[in-house]
Order: sequence, then C-alpha cells, then structure tokens
Amino acid sequence: MSLPLLTAQYFQQLDPRVLTLPDGPTLLLPTTQQALYADLFDESSPRPLPTAPYRTRVLKMIIAKLEAAISDPEEDEIYDPLLETLGTLISTPKPSATQQAQQLTHVTFTAPSQCPESQERRTIITSESRNAIVTAGTTGHRTWEAALHLATYLSSPQGSSHITGKRVLELGAGTGLVSMFCAKYLNPEIVVATDLERGLMEQIAGCSVRNGLEKERFRGCIWEWGQELQLDGEEERQEDGGKLGFDVAFGADLIYDTDLVPLLVQTVKTLFTTYGIQEFLISATLRNEDTFGTFLSACEEKHLAVNRIPFDSPKEEDQTGFFHSTMIPIHTYRISLPSLLADGK
Ligand SMILES: C[S@@+](CC[C@H](N)C(=O)[O-])C[C@H]1O[C@@H](n2cnc3c(N)ncnc32)[C@H](O)[C@@H]1O
Repeated sequence: MSLPLLTAQYFQQLDPRVLTLPDGPTLLLPTTQQALYADLFDESSPRPLPTAPYRTRVLKMIIAKLEAAISDPEEDEIYDPLLETLGTLISTPKPSATQQAQQLTHVTFTAPSQCPESQERRTIITSESRNAIVTAGTTGHRTWEAALHLATYLSSPQGSSHITGKRVLELGAGTGLVSMFCAKYLNPEIVVATDLERGLMEQIAGCSVRNGLEKERFRGCIWEWGQELQLDGEEERQEDGGKLGFDVAFGADLIYDTDLVPLLVQTVKTLFTTYGIQEFLISATLRNEDTFGTFLSACEEKHLAVNRIPFDSPKEEDQTGFFHSTMIPIHTYRISLPSLLADGK
C-alpha cells in the first residue's frame, strides 16, 4: 500500500480538509495505517516533516475518520504508533499564533505527474514562513500561487524547452522553488536565483544543499533591481564587455505594486539589452486589473512585446502536484524585444 498523492499534498502542507484521504474501510486496513505512519509521521524519515501543529491537525482528522469507520470493535484496530504519535504531539507545548506565523518550516513541493500514484515523484524542499505575508521587508518568505503555476508550466514538456540547455536567471525568486526545480530536473546549463533580501538567499543556499544541487548548476545571488548584477566567482562566464550573459529569465508574482512596475520593467529591458536574454517569462496573479494594465503600458513604452502563453493550471481537484488555488486567474506571459530580432541579435 502506498499513498503518493496524499503524501504530496501533506508535505506541501495543504489545508487538512482538502487532503485526499482513503475511504473509511481502506483506512482501517493495517497496511494502510502502517503506510500512513511510515509516509507521514515517522520522525526517522529523511524528508523534513511538516510543523507539529500541522501534523496534529492531520492526525486528529485521520484518527476521527478511523474511529468512525470501526464497525467491529473486536476486530478493527487503530495502529498503535499512530495513537502514540498523537499523544506525543498533543503533549508538545504549542507555539503562539505569532510564533507559528513567523516560524520557518521546510515545505516539500512535488511536481505534477501523469502517474500521480508513482513512487518516483520530482520534489523540491524550500524553507518558508507559511502564514506571513511580509517578513523582513519582503513578501518572498512563502511560495506564491503564481510560482506554482509557473513551475507547473515549466514541468510540462513544452515548458521545459524554455530551460533545457539554457543559462537561466530568476528575478524576485522568493523561496527559490521554481529556480531549484529547473536546476534539479530540467537540465539547464546554469540557473541563478536572485532576490533583494539576504535572509532569503541564506535560506535558498541551505535548501540548495538539501536538494542536492551542484554549485555549477545553481546559484543564489542578491540582486536589487536597478543595481548591477554581480555574481561571485563567475568571471569565466562573462561575455564581451565584462557582463554576465543569460538566455532566458523569468519571474513569478512580481506585478503587485504599481510603484514597483517601472523599475521591474526597466530591469526586464536591461536583461535583454545588457545581459543577452532572448525571452522573459512572467507569471502573474491577476488580482487587480489596473496594476496589470500599468505593467502592460510600461512594457509597450519600452517596446517590449507581451504575449500570453496558452497554458492554464489544471482545476484544483485535478492537480497532482504543485497544488495551488485557481480562484484568481493566473497567466504566464512571454516577453520579447522584437527590435533585437530585427537587428539580427
Ligand atoms: C510576491 S513575492 C514573489 C516571490 C516568488 N517569485 C513567488 O512567486 O513565490 C515578490 C518577490 O519580489 C522581490 N522583490 C520585490 N522588489 C524587488 C526589487 N526591487 N529587487 C529585487 N527583488 C524584489 C521580493 O523580495 C519578493 O521575493
């Protein structure tokens, strides 16, 4: 018995109410309960477990469902290690709501798969403050829906063709999920994840080791838009004129503040004119029409062409990985600089 879909949902710490639990009779089977314990609660597992409050909520729900399924108290049993784990979790002092919001936790994201029941799933571990919107002056300490949408697209055969064999840069990488996924599974030449905050970069550095990424394939680097990009030890990659070169760049959920839009669009343009990229992919959660309109106008002013990529996230109930809400539309756009093509560059 194995439970790969439930495991993927649980390690991404989805709301316990949406987890795909087996039905009562299947749950009662000793093999199911043993698998649940081994996959989700065994502390000797090499994968970092979700926070104690999250595990408690899920285990309480499972035990309630098991109790409801018992029809013959003589025969049906709840697996002891599950009950013991619940006892231990309940007696562990609970952090305050504020501590919980700021607490860093490891989250394991699983890529979508044609065979969600397969054991061989592609996973990436990040470090996040799950419930905080802004921590240390950045919104990057949690992975946003647009990043999961973009990662879903890039995990498809069409999406991965943007990355394979390329030198790739990410702007405003936040937790670094998308960059680390590309570096680990899509065979780029190199991926450089950038963001403005040192704490984010320290977490990304720690996670890149956890995810087994090689330094030659993946780098994290502080880059505040408008400044010059500087990468330690990258001299050998510099192209003529002493600038670093890339083939493609991307960013997720960067269009949320009209005040930031001019700097963002100027930075995208600089990536074409100075760093050599051929395309920029941006995934945007369309929360506010005006903000997105400001972005489109700014691109037009800079002669950047913006085209929507015809890709939609699967419906939530059909998702097999990189689970995310589709309540607010999220689209991915390909930005190009047609004058570069006209110049034959
Ligand atoms: C909403 S978060 C998105 C993070 C990540 N891309 C995701 O979708 O999960 C926006 C990110 O842009 C970064 N950012 C905002 N302004 C920036 C700037 N001027 N220079 C560099 N990064 C910036 C923030 O630090 C934050 O990580």
